[in-house]
Amino acid sequence: MKFFLDTANLHEIREAVELGVLDGVTTNPSLMAKEGIRGLDNVMAHYRQICELVDGDVSAEVIATDYDGIVREGEALAELHPSIVVKVPMIRDGIKAIKYFAEKGIKTNCTLIFTAGQALLAAKAGATYVSPFVGRLDDIGQDGLQLVEQIVQIFSNYGYPTEVLAASVRHVPHLIQCAEIGADVVTCPLSVISGLLNHPLTDKGLATFLADHKRVNA
Ligand code: E4P
Repeated sequence: MKFFLDTANLHEIREAVELGVLDGVTTNPSLMAKEGIRGLDNVMAHYRQICELVDGDVSAEVIATDYDGIVREGEALAELHPSIVVKVPMIRDGIKAIKYFAEKGIKTNCTLIFTAGQALLAAKAGATYVSPFVGRLDDIGQDGLQLVEQIVQIFSNYGYPTEVLAASVRHVPHLIQCAEIGADVVTCPLSVISGLLNHPLTDKGLATFLADHKRVNA
């Protein structure tokens, strides 16, 4: 299972890289705005910095919602760095653009997936990744993990190469259940990856081991 960090924050990316378990990064316009990145040149420079930090795919989202605009922005993003994956929204022109990018050998991540039908369409168009948003479905009282399970099953039925990238993963149980289901990738904040380290019995056990060692070696 691949771990992607869902952030545009360079410090967090460095921290995850140092932990040695990071396989990629996903960003979106809200995450870029949170870091105060504005203006095309700064946005492009920021994506380049992220790509230089991480050895893995980096999703950079287009802003355009029409076919020509998505293609133009996506090609410019893809030229920035070989790690760039063009993140395209699940809309009609997005699907057409994903097909175009697939034929050009440009990787894509179809974002804002909330139904199995949307994921199937994106896979048929040749998306590299589909991103079902687990947490946002939970937020409206639906079952985000059930959607991930459905998509994994459908892609496996037909051998689609499209990877299931569970997005909007908000806490450790989400991540573990995505792993049980067999999602190819999870993308989440650093706090979720760091949360995997923790158990009170680990802390208690380590404290006892160190105290016992100190007692006989004093
Ligand atoms: C996915 O690529 C999105 O950037 C992200 O996972 C959305 O997460 P959120 O619902 O916590 O904002």
